[in-house]
Amino acid sequence: MAAEAVMACAPLAGGTVARARHVAIIMDGNGRWATERGWPRLVGHRRGAQRVKEIVRAAPDLGVDWLTLYAFSTENWKRSTEEVLGLMAIFARYIRREAAAMSAEGVRLRFIGERARLDDKLQSLMSGIEARTASNTRLNLTVAINYGGRDELARAAARLAARIASGEIARPTEADLAACLDTAGHPDPDLVIRTSGETRISNFLPFQAAYSEYEFTPVLWPDFSPAHLAEILERTSQRQRRFGAA
Ligand code: IPE
Ligand code: IPE
Ligand code: MG
Repeated sequence: MAAEAVMACAPLAGGTVARARHVAIIMDGNGRWATERGWPRLVGHRRGAQRVKEIVRAAPDLGVDWLTLYAFSTENWKRSTEEVLGLMAIFARYIRREAAAMSAEGVRLRFIGERARLDDKLQSLMSGIEARTASNTRLNLTVAINYGGRDELARAAARLAARIASGEIARPTEADLAACLDTAGHPDPDLVIRTSGETRISNFLPFQAAYSEYEFTPVLWPDFSPAHLAEILERTSQRQRRFGAA
């Protein structure tokens, strides 16, 4: 009885209260992970998708209730056709294979990014799973596919302009712009993590992560485990966020 009570209290004593609730991750390093082993880059992407499953499953117990993952940027079309098509196939397979588990585990899956350039079949899988998981509340999972922050801002500006032209808005505010982004209604990330040792944001959530904490780890994404995430959450929970106040 006493032991149970101690166990129940332990996570709070460990700093759960101050932990990031919205974590966004730039999942980088799949290619290097495979190349280091003499394997094709797609092997790294497949292993990376496996890691996504593990991180998604672990997130709620680590106090994370919003998880946003950068899977494919607007710049990633510059890669070989083989790699691009391979990645698209991995996304489609992930949605098909994980649909039942996500429903059972209370994961609400949404996508951000520009969809029109994606294959019709993939687009319909994406909207299907969004509809199927729409009432889930345990974890809000957002996957960024064909996402670029500048592209998102340009599309948002067009929407905002239409609302101004129609007389709906007179002088746009930050909130009006936020409401036109793909992430409308999502909280801003508390913490952005990038794996693989690169220290740049590569066009990821420039508006939303303006006041986020950042953490760069040398671990390549296919090696990034729930234990790594737990360690980063624990360590960064000590940071003081001031948002410009004294
Ligand atoms: C991240 O890994 C996955 C995508 C960008 C799709 P990379 O493929 O960029 O891996 P590296 O950076 O080449 O090692
Ligand atoms: C950022 O990684 C995009 C994703 C992780 C999906 P990249 O590997 O494409 O970024 P750069 O080219 O190193 O900036
Ligand atoms: Mg990379």
